[in-house]
Amino acid sequence: MSRIAYVNGRYVRHGDAAVHIEDRGFQFADGVYEYFAVFGGRLADAEGHLERLWRSLAELRIAPPMSEAALGVVLHETIRRNRVRDGAVYLQITRGVAHRDHAFPNPTPSPTVVVTAKPVNYAIEAAKAEHGASVISRPDNRWGRCDIKTVGLLPNALAKQAAREAGAQEAWFVDEMGLVTEGASTNAWIVDANGALRTRDTNANILRGVTRKTLLALAEDAGISVSQKPFTIAEAQAAREAFITAASAFVMPVVRIDGVAVGDGVPGPVSRRLRALYLASARANAR
Ligand SMILES: Cc1ncc(COP(=O)(O)O)c(C=O)c1O
Repeated sequence: MSRIAYVNGRYVRHGDAAVHIEDRGFQFADGVYEYFAVFGGRLADAEGHLERLWRSLAELRIAPPMSEAALGVVLHETIRRNRVRDGAVYLQITRGVAHRDHAFPNPTPSPTVVVTAKPVNYAIEAAKAEHGASVISRPDNRWGRCDIKTVGLLPNALAKQAAREAGAQEAWFVDEMGLVTEGASTNAWIVDANGALRTRDTNANILRGVTRKTLLALAEDAGISVSQKPFTIAEAQAAREAFITAASAFVMPVVRIDGVAVGDGVPGPVSRRLRALYLASARANAR
C-alpha cells in the first residue's frame, strides 16, 4: 500500500507530495509543526498538541488555516488512509507561498498545510527503553524563542548528528549558566542525588513539551513531587536516574551522560514507573 500525504486540501501519494519552491517554510523556516503519537488509530495528547499548535501560530501571526475540528478530521483521515494503528502523525503549517522578501507578504497568502502519518513498531521502542539511551551535552546555540515549535531546527539537527557520531541517541543543550535546558527533540529530567524529580521550568528558553506537561500531572497524581529547578550536567551525572520525554520517545531512561554512567547505568525504578504511567494514560486518553 502506498503512503498518502495531505497537502493543502488534497490527499496525494507520498512520493508525489510537494510544496512550492517559494514556500516560506522552505526559504525562512517560517512555519510551525506538531508530532503526535498514534495509538489504535487515535491521537495521543491531542488537546495539548493542538493547544500548543494554536499558540505557536499566534506567536508567528499565522492565521489558523482551518478550525480545530476540521484539522482533527484531516489528521484522522490521514491516519485512516495510511492504515496506521500505532504510529505517529506529523503536521506542518507554514505562512505560505510568496515572492522572496523577509517581511510578511502582502496580501497574506494561504498557509501551507502538510500532514503525514507513519506506523511505528512500539515493541521495538519498548525494547530500546529497556536498555536506556545515552546523551551528550552541547552548548545551547539556539534562538531565544524555543517556546515556539518552529521548523527552524538546524541547531537541533546538528546537535542530534553530533550525538549520533558520538554513539549517543540525544544531545542535551546547556545554557551560558551551565544549566541543562532540554534535549534536541526532548525535555530533560533527573531524579537527583537526594531523590527529587527535577526538570527545567518553562520560563527558561525551552519548548513546553506536551509529554512533559502530562507527566507532571501524572507524577503529582501518583504522589511524586516534582521540582522545576534547573540542573547541571555534573548534577545529572551524579543523579540516581535521568530520562527524556517527547511524543516520539514517551519516557525514555537515560543511562549515560557524556560517557558517565547514571546511577547503576541501567533504567531506574522511577523512570520505568513514569514510563508505564504515561503510556497507560496516553493510550486510555487517545482520541
Ligand atoms: C526541542 C524539543 N523539546 C522538547 C520536545 C518534546 O515535546 P513533546 O513532548 O511535546 O513532544 C520536543 C519535541 O519535538 C522538542 O523538539
